[in-house]
Amino acid sequence: MPAIDNTYRTHYTNQIESGLLGQRATIAGWIEDLRDIGKVVFLTVRDVRGVAQAVVSGQSIEIIRDKQRQSAVIISGLVQDSKSKDFSLEIKADRVIILNDATHPLPIDPTGRVESALDKRIDSRALDLRSPKTASIFLLRSVLLENIRTTLRSNGFIEVNTPKIIGSASEGGANLFEFEYFKKPAYLAQSPQVYKEQLILALDRVFEIASYYRAEKSHTARHLSEFLSVDIEAAFTSMNEIINIAEQVLMNILSLNLSTSEGDMNGSKTLLIPKPRFPLKRLSYQQCVEDLKKQGENIEIGDDLSDASLRVLGEIHKGFFFIVDWPTKLKPFYIREKENDPRFSYSFDLQYGHLELISGGQRQHDPNRLKERLIEQNLNPDNFKHHLRVFSWGMPPHSGWGLGFDRLIMALTNLDNIREAVLYPRDVDRLTP
Ligand code: 4AD
Ligand code: MG
Repeated sequence: MPAIDNTYRTHYTNQIESGLLGQRATIAGWIEDLRDIGKVVFLTVRDVRGVAQAVVSGQSIEIIRDKQRQSAVIISGLVQDSKSKDFSLEIKADRVIILNDATHPLPIDPTGRVESALDKRIDSRALDLRSPKTASIFLLRSVLLENIRTTLRSNGFIEVNTPKIIGSASEGGANLFEFEYFKKPAYLAQSPQVYKEQLILALDRVFEIASYYRAEKSHTARHLSEFLSVDIEAAFTSMNEIINIAEQVLMNILSLNLSTSEGDMNGSKTLLIPKPRFPLKRLSYQQCVEDLKKQGENIEIGDDLSDASLRVLGEIHKGFFFIVDWPTKLKPFYIREKENDPRFSYSFDLQYGHLELISGGQRQHDPNRLKERLIEQNLNPDNFKHHLRVFSWGMPPHSGWGLGFDRLIMALTNLDNIREAVLYPRDVDRLTP
């Protein structure tokens, strides 16, 4: 392993390997454990990639002896064989620098030996991230975002950035954050929906990865006020083609060999769930209602699928599956109804058990019908005039979807609460840190 060009370290702890035996190495990180047995102090140092042992003797002992766990340190010395049961190699330290002390008592124990409630961990998130288990979730996020970008780029999608401060609701509905913008009312974007539909008019295929805002008053384990969404939109496509793209995104993610591709994955390779069989099941909404009736659920065609119903469905169809062709009235104004039966629409959700991961579909590209749909949904077409006008500039048929990325991470890592998958979650009760 080549040495690192860095002022503070020559190696990360996971690079202390047998090839370095007898050579000098400098690691930098935080004291995880300190065992003082008189003439020597055994020290474990953690950095983002792992943990290494150092043995301190001689004069350096006085520098380290009374130091607190989680203080920032630099350790240099020769790499030697170790007799310890947890390490085959260690650094025989001849230089020890304490960069900054950790002041005890610490709010949480990042080693996880003393467990803390999620709320307490989020209150001290920066420290919580020293736990490899916590850090691995965020390393995974980074790897998956890169992979999704690659999949979409290789399918001809152009990454775009649309405004988050907007003048009218993008999705309709009541869950908008409103605020004053130079004496005028403004909102935080619920989704890039109207912008991505406008952009395909020229750019053909676009995607955006950004945070969106919804004033979710519910206290569920899967709703946040701010969440990351992967949104795509493609001109001249029908619903099935963009479902295929969703499957490709998922397939590529689940094919990642995290253990070899990432030196810094820190154990998250064990987090991924087993690979499903592709293509995934595409169940019609009507089929789902029939299934639910058979299970004794009180539901009729046209009713929304409640959380309870989705839980029943999730028991019948484990893992990933699509629900397609939803009733038009249950879907937003921009979803296109079926020509042969307008009660139903070209719309789909991707489920992971009871958890909705993606919503999408083919859009209404006929401006007159779109205006009617706005009125049907009690939205004022005037508020959408900047959007509606682009439909008279040669709007092609188009389709797209939005993937709740935090929920995807939840599903892939078997987390019960979306807050675990987000660095600094925002909900009704939380605005800090
Ligand atoms: O289902 P949603 O509301 O669909 C849209 O925003 C459409 N514009 C997408 C499209 O292109 N047709 O949101 C998309 C996904 C959901 O399936 C869910 O995974 C996630 O975003 N999501 C949330 N995640 C966390 N907290 C919330 N409050 C969420 N609301 C939606
Ligand atoms: Mg949805």
